[in-house]
Amino acid sequence: MGKLKLLIDTDPGVDDALAILMAHRHADVVALSIATGNVRLAHTVGNALKLIETIGAQTPVFAGCATPLVLAAADAAFVHGADGFGDTGYLPSTRQAESEHAAQAILRLSHAHAGELVFVAMAPLTNLALALKLDATLPQRIARLVIMGGAVTGCGNTHRVPAEFNIGFDPEAAHVVFSTWPHFTLVDWEATLRHGVAFETMERWLAADNPQAHFFAAISRRTREWTRTRGRPRLMVADALAMAVALQPDIVTRAEDHHVAVELTGTLTRGATVVDWENRFGNAANAHIVMEVDQVRFEALVASALGAG
Ligand code: RIB
Ligand code: CA
Repeated sequence: MGKLKLLIDTDPGVDDALAILMAHRHADVVALSIATGNVRLAHTVGNALKLIETIGAQTPVFAGCATPLVLAAADAAFVHGADGFGDTGYLPSTRQAESEHAAQAILRLSHAHAGELVFVAMAPLTNLALALKLDATLPQRIARLVIMGGAVTGCGNTHRVPAEFNIGFDPEAAHVVFSTWPHFTLVDWEATLRHGVAFETMERWLAADNPQAHFFAAISRRTREWTRTRGRPRLMVADALAMAVALQPDIVTRAEDHHVAVELTGTLTRGATVVDWENRFGNAANAHIVMEVDQVRFEALVASALGAG
């Protein structure tokens, strides 16, 4: 069997960058569609172009929506740096994004690679929601959808406690996707917390002498330092975990299928992912919720993407 074909929606972002390195090391990346989220679109597009240039890939980059569907939201520059890549002051890439909008590119590529694509959504779901509104038959042509997002028991990472960033940044977009996509794999923030990477392990990998390790060491320095000062015991790499699940579905050692919906209006809870654990409402399970993965295999995928394993 040939390599997996991936279509990745991303808001680079430090952990996005690690996931994109993993994707290019282990799969065939058809395109990157770029979202606003961690930082604004000009930065996320520029970061994607710089990363692709750094690893010598020819992956096309498509810019998406510059704002959430309905309400404005706070970014995550405090985690990733004002530019989203650790404010290293890197020389911008000379490459350009494609002229086609990400939502239209997603639809076109879903036809060009009908039935073959694994769609990895590791950003706010604005672009995917827009594509779904343009063409509700999209899910029929996508082999698998893996979403990094949510906090299934309410342990989120935003100023609204139960909300995780990707869902909380654009809850309406998440609602569109969760309420229309028949079945998707969900890798949430709580799984990310269970599968952190030791700082020392990451630092050992980043000592590898190659372009991707050097680049990721530079752009992640600020995030690694910030994570330590927050007193977190390990480095959280949410998108890398979702990418590992996309690349190797059998890496999952425990998962549950349940219906998940998105809260849109709660003062304290807007953006929360609400799981019907006991199927009280009788809705079909739309989410395959990843609870645990094989940590050794996960870390091996990351290490090899950094040329360290
Ligand atoms: O909550 C983690 C998610 O939000 C990751 O995708 C990270 O890149 C940020 O976008
Ligand atoms: Ca992301």
